[in-house]
Amino acid sequence: MRTRHREPQLFGNEATLERMARILAARNIDPADATLPDDTEPFSPLDALLAAMPPRYQAAVADHPTVLDWVRKVTDAAVAPSRGARRQVTTGPSLLMAGVVGAGKTHQAYGAVRALVRSGVGVRWRATTAADLYADLRPRPGADSERELAAVSRCPLLIIDDLGAAKSSEWVEEVTYRLINRRYNYELPTLITTNLAIKDLRSYLGDRVASRLAQMTTRVEFEAVDRRRHSAAA
Ligand SMILES: Nc1ncnc2c1ncn2[C@@H]1O[C@H](COP(=O)(O)OP(=O)(O)OP(=O)(O)O)[C@@H](O)[C@H]1O
Ligand SMILES: [Mg+2]
Repeated sequence: MRTRHREPQLFGNEATLERMARILAARNIDPADATLPDDTEPFSPLDALLAAMPPRYQAAVADHPTVLDWVRKVTDAAVAPSRGARRQVTTGPSLLMAGVVGAGKTHQAYGAVRALVRSGVGVRWRATTAADLYADLRPRPGADSERELAAVSRCPLLIIDDLGAAKSSEWVEEVTYRLINRRYNYELPTLITTNLAIKDLRSYLGDRVASRLAQMTTRVEFEAVDRRRHSAAA
C-alpha cells in the first residue's frame, strides 16, 4: 500500500519565507542579495501599533461586551508559526458594527485592535475606510490594483470602516464581493463598521456579499446616540 507523503504545514511568515527561498534558489539568486518587498502593514508591539493608529483613536478602549468577546475568540484562535514563537492572529470570527453617525463604531474597532495587541498575540492588521479602499483600487496608470486587492484581502486582520458610505455601482459590488469572499473563504477576522441598517446592506452590496457577511459576522448594533454632540470640542 502506498503511503502519501505530506509536506509539513507551515504558517504565516515561515511558509512565506520558505516559498521565497525556493523561488530565489530556482532563479539562482542569493537570498542575502534580495530585498524584501515593502511591508507597510502595522505590526505589534505597542509602539508600532500606536504609530499606525490615527491619533483620535490611539487611546480607544473597547468596552462593548460583544467586541470584548470577539477579542477573546481571536486571541484564543491565534497560532504560533513555529515552536516557541509568539502566537499570531490567523483565523477567527468577524464583527459587523452597525449604528448611527457618531455612535462609537470606529472607536470600538481600534479599541479591539489595541486589546488584541495588549493580550500579547502578534497581529498584522490594516485599517481603511471603504471609500479609501475603492479609491486605491480604481484601475489607473502605474497602479497595480490587483496586487493591492490581494494584499488587503489576505491581511490577517482588516478594519473596513464605513462600509456602505460610498456610492454603490457594479464595480463597487464586484470589488467588495472579491474582498469579502476571500476573507470569508480563509476565515480571516474582519471588523466592519457601517451606518447602513443591516437590512439595507443587502440592497447596497448585493445578495452574495450580504449572505457571506450574515454567516461570517456577529452583528453589533449601537445605541442611536451621536457621541460627537455630547463631547467637548477636540
Ligand atoms: N466608548 C467611548 N468612550 C469615549 N469616547 C468614545 C467612545 N466611543 C466613541 N467615542 C468618541 O466619540 C466620537 C465618535 O466615535 P466614532 O468616531 O467611533 O463614531 P462612529 O460610530 O465611527 O461614527 P461614524 O459613523 O460617523 O464614523 C469620537 O470622538 C470617539 O473618540
Ligand atoms: Mg466611524
